[in-house]
Amino acid sequence: MIVAVDGPSASGKGTVAKQLAAHYGLPHLDTGLLYRAVGYALAQSGAAPDDEAAAAEIAARIDPKAYDEQVLRSAAAGGAAAAVAAMPQVRRALLELQRGFAARPGGAVLDGRDIGTVICPDAHAKLWVTASAEERARRRHLELNGRGEAMEYEAVLAQLAERDARDASRKDAPAVQADDAVLLDTTTLSIDAAFEEARRIVDAALQGRGL
Ligand code: DC
Repeated sequence: MIVAVDGPSASGKGTVAKQLAAHYGLPHLDTGLLYRAVGYALAQSGAAPDDEAAAAEIAARIDPKAYDEQVLRSAAAGGAAAAVAAMPQVRRALLELQRGFAARPGGAVLDGRDIGTVICPDAHAKLWVTASAEERARRRHLELNGRGEAMEYEAVLAQLAERDARDASRKDAPAVQADDAVLLDTTTLSIDAAFEEARRIVDAALQGRGL
């Protein structure tokens, strides 16, 4: 079974995806980490931030485990990720890696922005996880400050809005809800409540397919 969990930053999709994977005993891929690793590695390489050929070359052999996850989750790596995520050659280079992961025997849970639309359009269950911009900024602000990356709430909110707009408006694989994805709004939900709702959505999707 393939479960596609898409949605904007700090919507809770990563947490929901991880919990679904544990519940159904499936491997989980956080595809945002792939883009973050490519953006970070491009910056480290000394190539220009808009060098698409260099970024695609890095993407073709990227292993996110080779990098410190805390570094990849920093605000700076997030900015670098958004830039390379808008490059068609990078998306193409990462496509097979993601599809290969999804094709594992037994299936997988993948979270990102275009899993249900581009990577796994035939996924058995699709969720679009979201939350209000203010709530997502609150969560991201807490997370960044908890890691010692001091940033004003207003700056986090502005950065989030800018990234959302960039991800949703890019020509190649824009971050949009798939027609057949079920919306899960986590604005007022606890982590446990969001997971329960997600599990209910996945079970209903499986039942609907007679699985
Ligand atoms: O989910 P995240 O914040 O780790 O994602 C980092 C960036 O990568 C963000 O700008 C969206 C982009 N991304 C994407 O375009 N497609 C994906 N499948 C996953 C992430």
